[in-house]
Amino acid sequence: MTQIILPLSYLIGSVTFIIGLKMLSHPDSARRGNMVAAVGMTIAILATIFLYTDEDGNKLGNYGWIFGGLIIGSVVGTLAAKKVQMTAMPEMVSLFNGMGGACAMLISIIEFKHHTTGMTELYEEAGGSIFSTIPGTLFITIIVGMVIGSVSFAGSIIAWGKLNGKIKDFSFNGQHIVNLLLLGVITALTVYIIAARPDNTIMLFYTVLGMALLYGIMFVFPIGGADMPVVISLLNSFTGVAAAFGGFLYNNPVMLTGGILVGSAGTILTILMCKAMNRSLKNVLIGSFGGGNKVAGGGGSKEQGTYKEISLNDTATLMAYASKVLIVPGYGLAVAQAQHACHELEKLLEEKGVEVNYGIHPVAGRMPGHMNVLLAEADVPYDKLKEMEDANDQMSSTNVVLILGANDVVNPAAKDDPSSPIYGMPIIEVEKAEHVIVNKRSMKPGYAGIENELFFRPKTSMLFGDAKKVLQDLVAELKQM
Ligand code: TAP
Repeated sequence: MTQIILPLSYLIGSVTFIIGLKMLSHPDSARRGNMVAAVGMTIAILATIFLYTDEDGNKLGNYGWIFGGLIIGSVVGTLAAKKVQMTAMPEMVSLFNGMGGACAMLISIIEFKHHTTGMTELYEEAGGSIFSTIPGTLFITIIVGMVIGSVSFAGSIIAWGKLNGKIKDFSFNGQHIVNLLLLGVITALTVYIIAARPDNTIMLFYTVLGMALLYGIMFVFPIGGADMPVVISLLNSFTGVAAAFGGFLYNNPVMLTGGILVGSAGTILTILMCKAMNRSLKNVLIGSFGGGNKVAGGGGSKEQGTYKEISLNDTATLMAYASKVLIVPGYGLAVAQAQHACHELEKLLEEKGVEVNYGIHPVAGRMPGHMNVLLAEADVPYDKLKEMEDANDQMSSTNVVLILGANDVVNPAAKDDPSSPIYGMPIIEVEKAEHVIVNKRSMKPGYAGIENELFFRPKTSMLFGDAKKVLQDLVAELKQM
């Protein structure tokens, strides 16, 4: 019976991962998708704990340790996920991803110890290379899984620290060359251990482990702050691949499926994010874009002259008499937690006969889908969210664009200024609309740390203030009209 139930539970686990992942692609079904995959994972874990037996028929045992770990992990994970602010989500993802990498690394260390304990003495007795008795595929799986897991663990912890400001940027001239050399030595040593199985295999294994951890740290340190979500996504895919190696190691299909899904999803997401910023992965990894020196006017642009302000009353009037309004949300909307006030403004305008849509830039905010999640939380109908290309197509027939806490994603320098660090990134082309109103708190730059010429152009008016307060005041104004 167990021989049927265990593989069946793995099948259920694998299928629910795939269904869950598919459901994550739409905000309406995303929460349920997460639940579906979590239920599948729970079934697979419980089946392994209670039904798995080795060749000799022994059960897992160690229930105290297993459930102790499960309970501590579940409590810490639940509290962290409940407490986290939307804006701190990328750093939490990074920390959790680091834990996945650490698991893969520890699995490899434990399995290496398991297969090599006593080997040195055996070697001395036998007088031959006893490490060669370990099957080749097993050896490769252990060592490659260890290297990828260690890089992912160390890199994710540095990414987490950099995002929350606990770890300062650190780089030196020629760092990329040093990193490449380090990677080369790790690869050469790994190949050597696998191919030659020398007498000092144990010592070399731990040397590679140390170097992989160092590489993870060195590889993430010089990467610019604005590129961190891309790196987190890349490290996420590493963790997936390392977990898939664990699946091979334990001949566990559900671990293999989960690892492959995370690995491929992370890789696709990394590619999509690079495309959305019009950057190559190589440029992201060595470009140091949006690093620590986030100063006004820095990074290839200078102060552009004078800007004009608009009052709340004039903004309300302009929007109330428009036939089409486009709202462009950005990171500032998330910081202000203004999504509900924004939805209220949208409903009020629609009641007055104004067509309101949202223009969503793929990298607005600080993580993929940031704006979609934020607006879905406020029940904004999904069909109102227009992707960048659609929003740009509709721009010339739009009367008023209201930019709420967005900056880099509407910066014309990305199109016009080849010396700008964001040159080449597609933007929401707000200038094609009749009027552009920008809400932010000051003239400070956005994440890339560069001046935005849009604020100084004739069509643009600045509406200063915290996004939530401004939106609430606009709602109040509109209600009186
Ligand atoms: P940003 O360029 O970072 O601009 C956000 C603006 O919001 C700031 O200029 C800030 O100006 C304003 N702001 C902050 N708090 C506010 C508040 N309470 N009320 C009103 N305004 C407020 O944001 P964006 O346009 O969304 O661009 C995202 C950036 O992140 C891009 O550079 C992008 O490449 C980068 N990035 C994103 C991702 C993903 S996946 N989303 C991945 C990698 C990189 P004040 O301080 O003057 O208020």
